[in-house]
Amino acid sequence: MRIIKIFDTTLRDGEQSPGASMNVEEKIMAARQLVRLGVDVIEAGFPIASQGDFDAVKRIAEEVQGVIIAALARAKEQDIKRAYEAIANAPKKRIHTFHSTSDIHLKYQFRVSREEALKRSVEMVKLARSLVDDVEFSPMDATRTELPYLLDVVEAVIEAGASTVNIPDTVGYTLPEEFGMMIKAIKERIKDSAVISVHCHNDLGLAVANSLSAILNGAGQVECTINGIGERAGNCSMEEVVMALKTRKDYYKADTNINTKEIIRTSRLITRITGISVQPNKAIVGANAFAHESGIHQDGLLKEKMTYEIIKPSDIGLSKTELVLGKHSGRHAFKSRLKELGYELTPEEIEVAFVKFKNLADQKKDIFDEDIEALISEQTNKVVETYRLKDLYVSSGINSKPMAALKLSIKDEVIDVIEYGDGPVDAVYKAIASATNTKSNLLKFEVKGITGGTDALGEVTVTLQEDDIKVRGQGADTNILVAAAKAYITALNKIAYRKRAPNIQTVKIMTDECCKIDN
Ligand code: KIV
Ligand code: ZN
Repeated sequence: MRIIKIFDTTLRDGEQSPGASMNVEEKIMAARQLVRLGVDVIEAGFPIASQGDFDAVKRIAEEVQGVIIAALARAKEQDIKRAYEAIANAPKKRIHTFHSTSDIHLKYQFRVSREEALKRSVEMVKLARSLVDDVEFSPMDATRTELPYLLDVVEAVIEAGASTVNIPDTVGYTLPEEFGMMIKAIKERIKDSAVISVHCHNDLGLAVANSLSAILNGAGQVECTINGIGERAGNCSMEEVVMALKTRKDYYKADTNINTKEIIRTSRLITRITGISVQPNKAIVGANAFAHESGIHQDGLLKEKMTYEIIKPSDIGLSKTELVLGKHSGRHAFKSRLKELGYELTPEEIEVAFVKFKNLADQKKDIFDEDIEALISEQTNKVVETYRLKDLYVSSGINSKPMAALKLSIKDEVIDVIEYGDGPVDAVYKAIASATNTKSNLLKFEVKGITGGTDALGEVTVTLQEDDIKVRGQGADTNILVAAAKAYITALNKIAYRKRAPNIQTVKIMTDECCKIDN
């Protein structure tokens, strides 16, 4: 069986989703989960883009083992050297360099001739090869590039040392049949001299279909992201392409190295970290992907699952939520459950998590995996605490103005504040803003029930902006107002931390910007 390599670009192209920047710790957590998932390559970032990106790639290269760590670089000397510096310590490393090839880009954006673009691409692949053995080259906007010229570029960069050529559908313009023919032509020209990779954007909703068509025509690597996040309409969704290959092995005669049982956990982690929710009807990982509503379907399923189910929920790691722990569970059971869920925590972190778990078990009888994941995610998202919630009392009714009485500590000082608001959350947020003397803008407020029932752990995610600092905060609690307060305070702590250490800020350079070439 042919094995298609999975090149995950959640941490690079995925991070280009509007509002999705991740901090270094979050990227490391995501990278570790991608290793458990079994991806072949992690594109960890674009080191020249910012100090934050460089630091994240470097730490992933040093701390995450077992996969190839790739760093993106324009076909420019300083980019390639910076990418190398970031991944130098990775046991398996790749430089991924790119240059536009379509006339539209060359004429209007970069103002260079086709000959100059080809020459620069070859020179930069050679430079990258002098630093690492594994070099990937992407002719950007390949699908709007004239085929004979594209073939010349592909052949020349392979001769210069690229072992993977990635064909990006940068603007999501191509169609499955057309893209398949393009990949076939490339395969006929280069035979097995390099791996053909594809990188499809989803502007017409065809990223997965285009990638599958490419696989049928000779592509050996697919670039994709978890939940399909990425620039504009996103990238090819990893879970969809992987499950299409697995489910229709009879047709594609190909598979991947992905441990599909880790799919749902990875999807949830990326949602938590980026704050980008998955639409309920999204294939594979949407909340409704395995929910059967119609009576006829339910009747069929009860008789035989095969009638209406083409994928077993357990194949993507969705088990009927198991009751795992309760009030009487001890440290040992908690620790081994954390391990089974894939968390690698220090003994101190486990201790903090255990106390939280016990508190939760006092409020809520049944503790599910999702509850534990929410607790850990809240804990691991914490930065150094400037503000800490000590107590909160909220009153609200139909005929009374909502009121919040808050006790909060700022370093060693404890402050009490009472505020009124239009609603209970408004009152809580006014009290926090007044106690902390901060003036951030609330850009987004989202509430989610983690498990079923009225005692469900509620998770609140907020996005705050103060000056040019934009952060996300999460909080989980059985009391939704406490969860909202925790989320807001976590975000304020991140802002305070960023202000103290401005270098950790991720300043993203968007693709247009980053592709300007100095002549
Ligand atoms: O979409 C694109 O063309 C890219 C390249 C940098 C590969 O993301
Ligand atoms: Zn892209």
